[in-house]
Amino acid sequence: MINTNNTIKFAPIIVGTMRLGTWGANLNTKDLERYIDACLDLGLNDFDHADIYGDYTEEAHFGEVVKRRPDLKSKIQITTKCGIQLITPNRAHHQLKSYNSTPAHILQSVENSLQALGVDHLDVLLLHRPDFLMHPQAIAEAFEQLKTAGKVRAFGVSNFTKSQFEMLHQLTPLITNQIEVSLTHRNAFFDGTLDQCLSLGITPTAWSPLGGGAIFTDTDNPRIAAIQKVGHQLAETHNVSLDQILLAWVLKHPSGIIPVVGSTKIERVAAAKAATQIQLSHEQWYALWEAATGAEVP
Ligand SMILES: NC(=O)c1ccc[n+]([C@@H]2O[C@H](COP(=O)([O-])OP(=O)(O)OC[C@H]3O[C@@H](n4cnc5c(N)ncnc54)[C@H](OP(=O)(O)O)[C@@H]3O)[C@@H](O)[C@H]2O)c1
Repeated sequence: MINTNNTIKFAPIIVGTMRLGTWGANLNTKDLERYIDACLDLGLNDFDHADIYGDYTEEAHFGEVVKRRPDLKSKIQITTKCGIQLITPNRAHHQLKSYNSTPAHILQSVENSLQALGVDHLDVLLLHRPDFLMHPQAIAEAFEQLKTAGKVRAFGVSNFTKSQFEMLHQLTPLITNQIEVSLTHRNAFFDGTLDQCLSLGITPTAWSPLGGGAIFTDTDNPRIAAIQKVGHQLAETHNVSLDQILLAWVLKHPSGIIPVVGSTKIERVAAAKAATQIQLSHEQWYALWEAATGAEVP
């Protein structure tokens, strides 16, 4: 939700846009408009974008709706990302897939995103991946310039290690590290990123919280089969669906992880919102952990 004091408060579930266009469901503009309105009706106003989604087309796809419906501008909260350079005919000058966090690239990316989305500011800008050539001072200066110009309200990063986060956060305030967290991707529980969010009071946001859908389909994998078995038992106990249990598992972490859900189906987005009300017990959480790892905790 947008606060009047100009700080960002994320919605309880963030709606990912990666699969809405040519990288997924390819919703037509009318269906996309319905999808956005339905999310807003659920109180989910946070939309997670990246310049690269749909090979640099998804922001403009979403922006078509915003341009037709200017009333949406005061209702939605936009996160987008920059810093990955993809090889695609839509960026013919890119010769090699690479990362770029230079001020020139950041500033130009923001201009492109504003134009494509049809908005006059971004709520949150994330650096999509840590650029091994990044200079934190230069990035902090670019962020300051964007903030002063009223083009971006707040900044964060994605897929940053603990030390990379620390390096930038001491120069410019970061509001999130968007990392991959799910029962099938548990690194964040070991690599210090979640601990860091807890100790700094930063809200982590979790991409692919359902393993990008693999958790429902990759059934030859014994670990997935075990997650499904325990997940279904818990779903029955709580009288909810498997995907809701899997989200409740992510939501239970004390850092207050906010899942960035990727479903293109509004009923599944609604189920995700409802999952915020499920309380798994400690033992239920660890039963899923045990299913995912294949062993009881040492
Ligand atoms: N920062 C990063 O590096 C990064 C990387 C990847 C993604 N992201 C962000 O994170 C968002 C979410 O990522 P994600 O899409 O991989 O997340 P996800 O929510 O883990 O996976 C979504 C996929 O799971 C399927 N799914 C959901 N519920 C299902 C169910 N009950 N049964 C069967 N299939 C089901 C969806 O299909 P349906 O559409 O049919 O429901 C969709 O294909 C993206 O949109 C993007 O905004 C960020």
